[in-house]
Amino acid sequence: MIRFLLSGIVFCALQAVAADVQPVKNAGPYVPSPQSVVSDMLRYADVGPGDFLVDLGSGDGRIVLTAAKVFGARGFGVEIKDELVKRANEAAKLEGLAERVEFIKADLFKTDISQATVITMYLLPDTVNLLKEKFLAELRPGTRIVSHDYPLTGWIPEKYVQMELEDKVQISGVTTTLIYLYVVPAKVQGQWKASMPPAVSRAPATLLLKQQLTRVSGSARLDGRDIPLEDVRLRGDRITFKLAGRKGEFSGQIKGRSIEGMLDGKTPWSATLGG
Ligand SMILES: C[S@@+](CC[C@H](N)C(=O)[O-])C[C@H]1O[C@@H](n2cnc3c(N)ncnc32)[C@H](O)[C@@H]1O
Repeated sequence: MIRFLLSGIVFCALQAVAADVQPVKNAGPYVPSPQSVVSDMLRYADVGPGDFLVDLGSGDGRIVLTAAKVFGARGFGVEIKDELVKRANEAAKLEGLAERVEFIKADLFKTDISQATVITMYLLPDTVNLLKEKFLAELRPGTRIVSHDYPLTGWIPEKYVQMELEDKVQISGVTTTLIYLYVVPAKVQGQWKASMPPAVSRAPATLLLKQQLTRVSGSARLDGRDIPLEDVRLRGDRITFKLAGRKGEFSGQIKGRSIEGMLDGKTPWSATLGG
């Protein structure tokens, strides 16, 4: 029995050691974003004093430092290279920003990013896509994600800007520079029990929503009739839609498993997931 217990303990310890020594995935070489791109990334994400920004693979810290210095945000950078982390923390001290920003040496894939309201990254294209699941699992609806040069495939950007920059030639060999802005959508997939204005449905209604990232489609069951939804838009925790063939726009805010909304901005409606 004791031998059995001991071998179990040894096995668990070996597993823990194996997890610790797993090689860190290289998410991209150190190549700093030109300062003009940093400013554009932060402007497109509308960064402000209420934001907590996390730069994944923070290099010399320029994105987090600019976000704090120019836009008044707080945040941290996560970086795997010791000397870059040290340099960025020294710059934060020198610029009087150490109270609001910090740089940590860690693997970005294993870092808790749930505190972020803005994520920035300049990483390899495959890395950016490996992070999609992590973003959807950890980030709150409405969190903005800005990616320099590489898109999250299958995810429609809120904004997409292309420009030609001479500074980029020595970095990527071409002048073309891209900035993608995404907004983390709330999870709305499923059947919602809805309470609609009496003019829309007298009986309790049902909303059936299908979701693929920001794309949502579905139908409403109103007084026994199924009506398709039209012009469905989901941005963060805000949803709007129309009922096919009927007047009026429904808007709503998703709060976990409930939606509180208005029809044409004046008549309330609500819904609960799983009705
Ligand atoms: C292209 S640079 C971007 C630097 C900075 N974000 C900027 O835009 O100026 C990518 C950085 O990610 C870092 N990096 C690569 N893999 C990483 C990992 N697994 N965890 C944390 N940092 C990583 C690299 O050392 C490098 O400094």
